[in-house]
Amino acid sequence: MQSSEPKHKALFRTELDLPGRREGKVRDVYTLGHGEGSPRLLVIATDRISAFDVVMPTPIPGKGVILNTIASWWLRWIEGKGLCRTHLLSTDEGEIPEEAFIGSTSREDLAGRVTIGRLCGVVPVECVVRGYLDGSGWEEYRASGRVCGVELPPGLERGSKLPEPIFTPATKAEQGAHDENIGFDEACAIAGAETMRRLRERSLAIYLAAAEHAESRGLILADTKFEFGFPLDEHGEAEGEAILIDEALTPDSSRFWPGDKWKPGGAQESFDKQFVREHLLGLVSRGEWDKSPPGPELPEEVVLGTLERYAEAARRLCAGG
Ligand SMILES: Nc1ncnc2c1ncn2[C@@H]1O[C@H](COP(=O)(O)OP(=O)(O)O)[C@@H](O)[C@H]1O
Ligand SMILES: [Mg+2]
Repeated sequence: MQSSEPKHKALFRTELDLPGRREGKVRDVYTLGHGEGSPRLLVIATDRISAFDVVMPTPIPGKGVILNTIASWWLRWIEGKGLCRTHLLSTDEGEIPEEAFIGSTSREDLAGRVTIGRLCGVVPVECVVRGYLDGSGWEEYRASGRVCGVELPPGLERGSKLPEPIFTPATKAEQGAHDENIGFDEACAIAGAETMRRLRERSLAIYLAAAEHAESRGLILADTKFEFGFPLDEHGEAEGEAILIDEALTPDSSRFWPGDKWKPGGAQESFDKQFVREHLLGLVSRGEWDKSPPGPELPEEVVLGTLERYAEAARRLCAGG
């Protein structure tokens, strides 16, 4: 196992002297630049991993670097293709002011983990696109024949390809709660019909283009989740059109399956969190965990196996242009 030893020192948590600190499940978030110009957000990808909305106590050393590499690669790609404007401004940890480093976190700890984006008012709807049936979409279909109000043909299996990609929004749950699938009408009631129509159109367009790229690299992009927000101006007022924020098209926010192994009718081999989920479901079925916090420690083979899958996704997706 020597060769698969993690290359990175694990980063579980950051401690920077900056305003607006917020701890997401995976990312630590701060605000930057309260001087002139539009406010910016500093997002740091740690090595935490969450599954079933519970953060595991065991970090995946280097996962944050891989995640940030993939996310920023896609954000640039999406901008470059003219698919949507994004929040991405920089990935340079050198832009963090020196005064921030008074705690245990050093600038070196953050190398490769930083995204600096335009601070936005977040649209409180998760914009999910599914090209294949799995996860909560599969559960809903099995129970009702529909997903988020979208009627689907009968006889689909877990992992089946859908006749066309569908937009299946979800609520953005408060910390500790689970996102809930909602119909398009409900999403409109939350975020406004005009905004939601535009975000649906953007989400489907990005999904289609990204799925095509993934396919050219031998990967199926089964489903994915986008977040959008309205950029805030120097007075903290929302301005202009909603832009793509957060991470995009990473193994944390998407299901990636090896195209040559795809076989509907069950769980797929994957380059995403499914590997961890399957391990945890094993614990659940043996009565060793009940999906509530705290999560169980992850064994080394699950840590290394997860890291290897994330690294493979990055190698395949982001090599070359
Ligand atoms: N440009 C942005 N402006 C404001 N908030 C953002 C922006 N980009 C990402 N976020 C928020 O930062 C957080 C990222 O941390 P994450 O670990 O994904 O948290 P969560 O547990 O909420 O998913 C999310 O809450 C996301 O909505
Ligand atoms: Mg998130």
